[in-house]
Amino acid sequence: MHTFEELSALFSETFEKTHFPQEPHTLYEPNNYFLSMGGKRLRPVLCLMANELFGEIHPDAWNVATAIELFHNFTLIHDDIMDKAPLRRGKQTVHTKYNESTAILAGDVMMIRAYEYISQIDLSLVQRILELFNHTAVEVCEGQQLDMDYEQRNEVTLDEYLNMITSKTSVLLAASLQMGGILGGGSYGNLDLLYQAGKKIGLAFQVQDDYLDAFGDPKKFGKQAGGDILANKKTFLLIKTLQEAKGAQRTELDQLLAGNAPDKVDRVLQIYRDCRIDGWAIELKHQFLNEALQHFDDMAVVSKRKTPLKELAEKLVKREN
Ligand code: IPE
Ligand code: IPE
Ligand code: MG
Ligand code: MG
Ligand code: MG
Repeated sequence: MHTFEELSALFSETFEKTHFPQEPHTLYEPNNYFLSMGGKRLRPVLCLMANELFGEIHPDAWNVATAIELFHNFTLIHDDIMDKAPLRRGKQTVHTKYNESTAILAGDVMMIRAYEYISQIDLSLVQRILELFNHTAVEVCEGQQLDMDYEQRNEVTLDEYLNMITSKTSVLLAASLQMGGILGGGSYGNLDLLYQAGKKIGLAFQVQDDYLDAFGDPKKFGKQAGGDILANKKTFLLIKTLQEAKGAQRTELDQLLAGNAPDKVDRVLQIYRDCRIDGWAIELKHQFLNEALQHFDDMAVVSKRKTPLKELAEKLVKREN
């Protein structure tokens, strides 16, 4: 059994080599650039941790974890185009440093490479893993489309938001855990609980992401401050504030959302603060965290084996990057 830090270091040893050929370097250099920026490696570690619930790490877990991290990086390269994001992990995004067409192709080829790692796993496992991988990939696309559709809508309900972030973010965390469990030979009951726990961790994770996009320290968070506000993203902060703001405050918020005033971010942030969105973020994250911890508790696995996963879930809701 290993901690997050230990698994993350072990994963880096296998992951930090080149996944791409040299030429055309105009296609592969952007991918090497993007991967060299690191990231938290959360999803592969979740996969490895779930695998360790059931014993020693399965040799194929490294291929699956690699595929998951490549797939995640592909989604980020394309997400940054969709979100017109200039910064990621404190550096220029791929479409800003190179160009949009290259970023599309670089993302495509990264996703294909992810599938190549899946194709290398044991024949007895490949079908189940691939099915889950495909299903997850489709859901992420659906969630990303909803995320963009909601930019254009004035009202989005909290339930719609939660469904959207389940698809764009949570299912990949859930699948990462479940794939680790499948490789570990987990029972159907345990695999289902892993998936449910992953979905809840994902919800708390995206709630924190939305919170940091508004209130995080850009130096630590590594993304453009207030990017979601500029794009009129229907984050829980905005949805809740639209419910709470009354009178002149609501009129000001509607006007800000309808335009692109130079002080839009600062003024929307002030309205968020006035509506005490902080307390609401904490409440929402803890609700999901507690539900995730309960799913781990319900698993029929020796309880000390669950400790690294539980500690990681607790850490993620407090993350600053
Ligand atoms: C960013 O994911 C995308 C979201 C789902 C919010 P991470 O915050 O895990 O990104 P990296 O890999 O650590 O940069
Ligand atoms: C990310 O949502 C979801 C996916 C990349 C699939 P965001 O758009 O909030 O992620 P960041 O904030 O750019 O990392
Ligand atoms: Mg996005
Ligand atoms: Mg984004
Ligand atoms: Mg975000």
